[in-house]
Amino acid sequence: MRISENKIDEIRNAADIVDVVGGYVQLRKRGKNFIGSCPFHQEKTPSFTVSEDKQIYHCFGCGNGGNVFKFLMEFKNISFVEAVEEVADHLGIKIEREESPNDQQNELEVFYDINVLAARFFSEHLAKSNEAEEAREYLKHRGIKHQTQRSFGIGFAPFGWNHFLDHAKQNKVDLANAKHLGLIDTNERGEYYDKFRARIIFPIFSPNGRVIAFGGRILEKNDNIAKYLNSPESQIYSKRKSLYGLFHSKDEIRKLDRAILVEGYMDLISLFQAGVKNVVASSGTSLTDEQIQLLSRFTKNIFVLFDADSAGQKASLRSIELLLKQDFEVKVIALPKGEDPDSFINKFGKERFDEEVNRAVNFLEYQTAQFEELGLFEDPAEMTKAIRELVRTLALVNDELKRNLLMKTISKKFGLREKLIESELNTALSQNKTRVETQATKQAVRIESAATASQLNLAAKPVNENPNEKELVRLLFSGEEKILGYIFDNVAIESFANMNYMKLAELVHDGWNDGKYSPADLVEKIDSVELKNFVMKLTLTDESISKKWDDLSFTGKIEKDTFEHAVETVRSFQIFQIEEEIKRNNQIMSDSKDERLHIELLQRNRELQDDRKALLGLKSKNEFDW
Ligand code: UTP
Ligand code: MN
Repeated sequence: MRISENKIDEIRNAADIVDVVGGYVQLRKRGKNFIGSCPFHQEKTPSFTVSEDKQIYHCFGCGNGGNVFKFLMEFKNISFVEAVEEVADHLGIKIEREESPNDQQNELEVFYDINVLAARFFSEHLAKSNEAEEAREYLKHRGIKHQTQRSFGIGFAPFGWNHFLDHAKQNKVDLANAKHLGLIDTNERGEYYDKFRARIIFPIFSPNGRVIAFGGRILEKNDNIAKYLNSPESQIYSKRKSLYGLFHSKDEIRKLDRAILVEGYMDLISLFQAGVKNVVASSGTSLTDEQIQLLSRFTKNIFVLFDADSAGQKASLRSIELLLKQDFEVKVIALPKGEDPDSFINKFGKERFDEEVNRAVNFLEYQTAQFEELGLFEDPAEMTKAIRELVRTLALVNDELKRNLLMKTISKKFGLREKLIESELNTALSQNKTRVETQATKQAVRIESAATASQLNLAAKPVNENPNEKELVRLLFSGEEKILGYIFDNVAIESFANMNYMKLAELVHDGWNDGKYSPADLVEKIDSVELKNFVMKLTLTDESISKKWDDLSFTGKIEKDTFEHAVETVRSFQIFQIEEEIKRNNQIMSDSKDERLHIELLQRNRELQDDRKALLGLKSKNEFDW
């Protein structure tokens, strides 16, 4: 089912986000915005902000944010189409549906249909076919009950090269699509064959219960082939964005407001069957930012429970770092050596498991215990390194109060002065900051085509960041046609020294070219969490305004998104660029003895001085008729 782009635009333009959100969250006006308690995480002081003029919302506590549709999708856990329908209903707008076979949604439906066909095929095989006897025995031996097998859709892919292939042909499946999903593949002669052979099949569901991929486990130990075969990335499956088991566990996670994170398919299924239903699995890979963001829709409290081997411990430490960065409350459950969650619950039962959960320690205690085990605290030099490492983790906690409390724990535990830990912490904090920046910078550079990248290196290297870049980006997110047009006409975005600002400005420019440049359109397109948070902060908070707001003597209105302000900012930007170029030219002249170059640069500097004077003159006249 598809709703036309025009209709979606019409609905979004007619909708009032304050009205819609206000139906679910108590909002009160503060300054230009509305604030309330965030419905996506628990908080004491409200940091959930809704902007009426920008038609976006953002929580400064948990980072959840977007436009009116995103709010409904997140709050009610519904699809985009459902969210659009709900807003349309509310506004009394009628939706006529297009059903053209070419549109994207239908294209995806084809993939879902193939996966459902495959899932049914595999599960029927497991239930009925003679060849699946060994698989049934295997699951029985591993203690997976029939009921559990059914509810997780477990199946068996038979031996042989073309069982599913034939089934797909009989059902008129477009084989190229089945290949895209990784169910079949082609050999060097171009003939199709089954990818999943003689494997127990675990369908992977989206949070809404659609089959998006499969994992397949071999029956017998075999060092020559991978234990699990997983579906490749596809138009409906992104490994980085999926959490195995979430569809089954999301209600319980929300209810208990905490989740247990395990590694494997079998771990999740065994725990779930035993009654521990708030589990998700990262499926072997190290946890990603996208998975954490997905989980944060349901809870911000997590118990990390990885295998008690050294790979598992390393994976825990990595995951903990990412979780802390996204403001999760992290605890670690340590199982006895040699056990994984599946083997533990089958051997010792739920009560013993619950005891282990109750014994979970916070991440610092966990890390300390690991270092202790490695003997790092016996040698003073090693100990310094270890403590530094602990402080580095601590620096990932964004909440200052929490960070300070944890700092006290460290200083107590090691009998060190708090001031000492504090200064270590400050170093780590500033290092984190630069690390985030350089990562984002690297990413931005990668996105550039080779040509622009080399241009950039030339232009950007000696340039200091223009102090007006940030304000220009803020203005670009104003959604004001006149302002955007003026900025794009007068500022070369490639000249931005700050890669993040440049990336954001380009995003707006692309939107501008497509005629879609409202903040509500744009925020949806920012794929990096950090950049998105940055934009939200930039567009939704305005210190100068809120300070004035509290100031009783202030009665006038401050309007920062005016055209005049944009002109003023562009002008400051240009003046700074000119002054920088003059400085650079002077530097080159003092480094070089080339006379012709000197003459050229002097000439250039004269032009620049003239431009600068013209721009400065404008200020005194304060006219904007050009
Ligand atoms: P494990 O090797 O710990 O397997 O891998 P497991 O989950 O305990 O499975 P059983 O108990 O032996 O049946 C953990 C997870 O890593 C992924 C799978 O998601 C698995 O559940 N994995 C592992 C793969 O994707 N491929 C592999 O070859 C191995
Ligand atoms: Mn296992």
